[in-house]
Amino acid sequence: MHSSSSRPIGIFDSGIGGLTVAKAVHQALPDERLIYFGDTIHLPYGDKSADAIRYYALKISKFLLEQDCKMIIIACNSASSAAYDLLLDFFEGKTLFVNVVDPLVKKVLEKNYRHVGVIATKATIHSSIYKNKIKAGNQHIKVSQLATPLLAPMIEEGFYSGDIAKGVIENYLGQPELQGIDVLLLACTHYPLIRKEIENYYGGKVDILDSTDIVADEAQRLLKNAGLLADKKSGEDHFYVSDYTVSFEQAARLFYKESITLEVKQIYT
Ligand code: DGL
Repeated sequence: MHSSSSRPIGIFDSGIGGLTVAKAVHQALPDERLIYFGDTIHLPYGDKSADAIRYYALKISKFLLEQDCKMIIIACNSASSAAYDLLLDFFEGKTLFVNVVDPLVKKVLEKNYRHVGVIATKATIHSSIYKNKIKAGNQHIKVSQLATPLLAPMIEEGFYSGDIAKGVIENYLGQPELQGIDVLLLACTHYPLIRKEIENYYGGKVDILDSTDIVADEAQRLLKNAGLLADKKSGEDHFYVSDYTVSFEQAARLFYKESITLEVKQIYT
């Protein structure tokens, strides 16, 4: 790995949800050049097998390494659960990898929570990654998990506020699994968009954590430790997708909170 700090940060997700993390990284580290890859042709990862997600994650990481990324942020909980260990092994020493699970787990362990709720895609929940990592850090913390597969497509279709969103959110958060929690982890990179609705539901009685700012802080810490923080922007950011539709571009604006141009990049041929 050569050490130029002007090299870009790669960020990838199954689609556009990871743009919530990209935005937080951009705000925390405005001098960094970003290369985002949304694997829209394979969206959603949350319903895929761990093997399929690992294959996609390897292909995308290879592409991001060809772009000379000094760091790769896996801005997807499903991919972080299935593929982080494999990517670390496979590309050992070639770049810095950041997943979205460990920084959130670290935050939970720093606080004095007794009962943690986790909502995420089926892939993330079935991996039990949050439960296992939190329990490994403190076996006395109770962890309750609930797969909430309707939330990501609902948000992508633009239903992140209003009656439909409210009904779906209330239904999920009212499930027996999530009663008595003192913190809820939004363990999917789409969910920051419905954070306000979730906060309204709990009315301040439950803490809510998502991985946007927490992951951006972790990226900053790792780059600083490695002496790789950029001191000025070295070029344009790029936002690649494996499949383009107008609705992806519209949704991208929603997730990134500013107008961005999506470029199609074939990496599977
Ligand atoms: N971004 C994915 C995650 O954080 C959710 C969307 C999907 O299922 O692909 O798990």
